[in-house]
Formats: sequence, structure tokens, C-alpha cells
Amino acid sequence: MTDPRLVSPARVDDDAQYEAGLRPRRLDDYIGQDRVRENLHVSIAAAAQRGEALDHVLLYGPPGLGKTTLAYVIANELGVPIRTTAGPVIEKPGDLAGILSNLQPREVLFIDEIHRMAPSIEEILYPAMEDFELDIVIGQGPGARSVKVPVEKFTLVGATTRAGLLTAPLRARFGIVHRLDFYTPADIEEIVRRSARILDVPMDADAAREVAGRSRGTPRVANRLLRRVRDYAQVRADGRISLDVARAALKLLEVDAHGLDEVDRRLLLTIIDKFGGGPVGLGTLAAATSEEPDAIEDMHEPFLIQLGFIERTPRGRVATARAYDYFGRTLPGRGLF
Ligand code: ADE
Repeated sequence: MTDPRLVSPARVDDDAQYEAGLRPRRLDDYIGQDRVRENLHVSIAAAAQRGEALDHVLLYGPPGLGKTTLAYVIANELGVPIRTTAGPVIEKPGDLAGILSNLQPREVLFIDEIHRMAPSIEEILYPAMEDFELDIVIGQGPGARSVKVPVEKFTLVGATTRAGLLTAPLRARFGIVHRLDFYTPADIEEIVRRSARILDVPMDADAAREVAGRSRGTPRVANRLLRRVRDYAQVRADGRISLDVARAALKLLEVDAHGLDEVDRRLLLTIIDKFGGGPVGLGTLAAATSEEPDAIEDMHEPFLIQLGFIERTPRGRVATARAYDYFGRTLPGRGLF
């Protein structure tokens, strides 16, 4: 069985450190997402020319596509420090107030999974983003009063896999909003070649294409597979990643030609076998597969939709003819006779 973490776009512990070395630091080194890159080029250059903080930036899209990387690139291009946190780790309003009041002028504050911030904490952000001040309540009961404390002009970069879960007031305070999409095969291939160069591992062009083709259009997956293929080349071959070596390594890892993992396959087979191809609602599908609805919606579904294996309809998820073909099944009503 495939280790789902191998092809999962979710971050696993050892990725963070590994990715850091491969992460592009400049926009010019960032491969793919051309429209986002070009727009950011303009916004960053304009803010830098005016000597102002960049407008707040919201980046959204499936995991592993480079939202964190872009936040670091933005700070680097602006020549300012970056401070990083995440929605679920900010527990008390005071935690966020503390971070905000310590920011340097024009600093980037990166909040990952910003949709998971508690409402009471989110409210601290509104005046900070809009007027660069904090509303602090002093005392309790009838004697309580509110004082406004200024904070430095900063740039909030928020990242989320689900823009739809952001509250309207928070969303409205981002002046720059970009959606990251799955990378094209050519872009992923270039990322694999770039990473191989940085890791100083010799790799043939057709091998890079092979790894890229199984990477779900996701740089994090591509870099993880490259790392495993490099191990294989080192131990079972002469260190060079040829096409044969890449194929043998990927076969051993049980990563299939589309980069589907065991959970993807189980989701598809459940829709096909248990629900007659669908439609089936998210909650029902989650219960039938013992997977978290969030994981299905954030990680598996976007890729399966992109591959054309699943369609979302108002009544639920439906397996497409392509999904049936993939498993060698016949779509009901499309039999031989
Ligand atoms: N590594 C991870 N994502 C990348 C990207 N978009 N461009 C270059 N290298 C990367």
C-alpha cells in the first residue's frame, strides 16, 4: 500500500527543513503561477517605490502549492523581516495583540490557515489591518474603557486552503487576493530539475518528466518524490537518476502514473461501489471511508476534480467515466450490449 504521506500535499515534519533549502527566495526564481507572479511583481515594485507597506495579501488554494513560499518571497523582495504564525496556534486575543504591537515598520506577518482563527481573535485584526491600531479594553464592567494603541504599518499575508470559510469582514480587508492553482506538467518538471540541481544529484531529463508526471501538479509532492528517488539511486544504482531508476523507485513506492494515493483510490472506489457512482454527499463519503471531511475537501477532492475523476454536483460527488476507466470498470448504462 502506498504511504499516503508520500503523495499527500500536506506538510509532514521532515518536509519543512528540507523544503527550506529548495524554496525560491526571489520572484524571478519562482517557477509557475505566472499570473500571480506578475501581479505580485507590480504590487511589490509599486509599494517599494512609494516606500509604503504592501497592501495585505490573501493567498488561497490547495495545500503544497507554495503559499508559504510566496509569503517568504514577498518579504524578501520587499527587503523586510517576516514573522510567521498560524490560525489554530493563536489561542488568546492577547497573543495576537502581542505579535501586532511588536511588528517593525513594513514587516510581513504571515498567518497560515487563517480561516481557523477564532472569531474573538479575528476581531483584533480588523482595526490593525485597516487603521493600524489595536482596540484594547481596559478594566471590566461599567468602568471598562477602550483605548486605541497604534501599531506599525505592516503587511498581513494570509494563507488558506478555503477562501470560502473566511468571514466577509476579514476577506474584505485584503487588497491583494490570489488563487494558486495546480502547476502545469512543464512547470513541475522545471521545479524537479531545479531541485535536483540544488541537491546536486544528476538526473536525466526523461526521469525528471517521469517524477513530475506523478506529482499531482504539486511542488511539495514533487520535491518529496525526488528525495525518495534520490535515495533509491544512491542505494540501488550509481547515484544517477535515470528513467529506469526513477521508474523502479516509483514502482517500489507504489506511486501510480497519476500520483494517486491509497486514500484517493479508496474514495473513488467507495463512490463507485457503495454509492453506484454517486451522487454522494461529503459527510456520507467521509463516514463511509473513515476519512476527515476537511481532508477530503482540501487535499483529495481538488486533485481528483482536476484529473476529471470526480464532479461536484448540487446533490453531491459523482465518479466520472474516467474514474471508471481508471479502475477498468464499466460505467453503468454503458455496457457492451
Ligand atoms: N520549489 C517549490 N515550489 C517552487 C516554485 N514554485 N518554484 C521553484 N521552486 C519551487
